[in-house]
Amino acid sequence: MTPTMNVSRRTLLRGGLAVAAGGLVAACSGRPGGNGIVVPAPTALTPRPGQSVVAKTLTARPTTLDLGGPTVATWAYDDIVPGPLVRATAGDLVRITLENQLPDETSVHWHGIALPNAADGVPGLTQKATTSGQRFTYEFVAPDPGTYFYHPHVGVQLDRGLYAPLIVDDPHEPGAYDAEWIVVLDDWIDGTGTTPDEVLAELIASGRSSGGMMHDMGGMGGMGGSSLGDVGDVTYPHFLINGRLGTAPDVLRAEPGQRVRIRVINAAADTVFAVALGDHRITVTHTDGFPVLEQEAGALYIGMGERYDVVVTLADGVFPLVARPIGKEGTALAVVRTGSGPVPTPERAAASRELTGPVLLGSRLRPADSSRLPDKDIGQSVDLALSGRMSTYEWAINGAPYGENEPIAIEPGKRVAVQMTNMTMMTHPVHLHGHTFALSNGLRKDTVLLTPMQRMVVELEADNPGNWAAHCHNIYHAEAGMMAALVYEDQGPLTGGR
Ligand code: C2O
Ligand code: CU
Repeated sequence: MTPTMNVSRRTLLRGGLAVAAGGLVAACSGRPGGNGIVVPAPTALTPRPGQSVVAKTLTARPTTLDLGGPTVATWAYDDIVPGPLVRATAGDLVRITLENQLPDETSVHWHGIALPNAADGVPGLTQKATTSGQRFTYEFVAPDPGTYFYHPHVGVQLDRGLYAPLIVDDPHEPGAYDAEWIVVLDDWIDGTGTTPDEVLAELIASGRSSGGMMHDMGGMGGMGGSSLGDVGDVTYPHFLINGRLGTAPDVLRAEPGQRVRIRVINAAADTVFAVALGDHRITVTHTDGFPVLEQEAGALYIGMGERYDVVVTLADGVFPLVARPIGKEGTALAVVRTGSGPVPTPERAAASRELTGPVLLGSRLRPADSSRLPDKDIGQSVDLALSGRMSTYEWAINGAPYGENEPIAIEPGKRVAVQMTNMTMMTHPVHLHGHTFALSNGLRKDTVLLTPMQRMVVELEADNPGNWAAHCHNIYHAEAGMMAALVYEDQGPLTGGR
């Protein structure tokens, strides 16, 4: 694909898929609106009596960041990476004003939250992109407690420093732990002589992925001993935990014997990690916000966009909290300190025995009863098939890249079975906006890893009308077409509220 075509593809994607998506939605809704998807009006919520409001202004702008030695020019929220924590209690009204001081348009997506469509932050589907110098206010009531994050939904901006944790506390949770840490994983390339936009342009110009197409099957299973096949396309110079390199790591402190809840978020653009705490077994308690039947593990995989909450009772000493990028060279490291001892090097951390043993794949977890969708018959079945092209760096859902594929139309009120099929030799984290779906064993997820050629049927309750994105959370794949719109049939005018 030529650079010129690259520009036109990006323009198409950024400008929204209105042209291609239009026919179906307009036909179903009977609403006017020219060529298609009608973005809902922004919300203007008034707090109920007694309802708390979490309000904040978030400034997206270019900044210089110290990774713990090297400094990089990047884009960030409020000049820090990860960006500022947004923390609310379930039921609170969250009101965040984005101030765009970037030299580009942007938006904020509240990843994993089943919020009103108008606050979902997807240009072309739920809002117009916020242009440079403008503001946009997001308002929603967070329904479900859990570990979430936020990031832009424009281009490959997520692969800059634009990401931050979003925690929704459960007012009814006993909090059976002494301390809590938020651990955000990332792969880093911005400001190291290139930018994510240049990386994407190169991927498109070279016209290939490292392994997404139907290539040599013999390559499978060789990547770091995992069964994930190839997982990424980009070679990163750095891997970070909480914005820090492993050579100058973030230090997490507690007392020996304390029980700590660790909320792990993978904000990487192109990297699946295996995560472990050296010399400890971890107990997984939640994924993507929802409780699971507690499961002990030495290490676990975390795909881009996934979150896992684990608890661990800490021993006495200094331990590596380590994330190994699957199929890539490097180590992300933070240090857990409860006593004295030498700080582990990234090399020693990477050799932790927890990482050489079995690694838990999240889809094997089982749901806590409180996380299950109520029993209901399937009312509709839709397909979501992931594919790639041989000759160009182009990814697709249901046979065509975003902007050319049909929106997936679901019926309000129905239990919808989504037949997900991975027709490639790569692992892809599939993310659905506005809903948390149930795997066949009932596990609730909003982002799930589909291994090469895997087929998985998930169920969602069509209870949150709007225009939603469904895409691979490899941001390069998403931007090169592996995305689709999921729309509600006959939903009437969108007001952005519920
Ligand atoms: Cu974090 Cu559309 O996703
Ligand atoms: Cu992908």
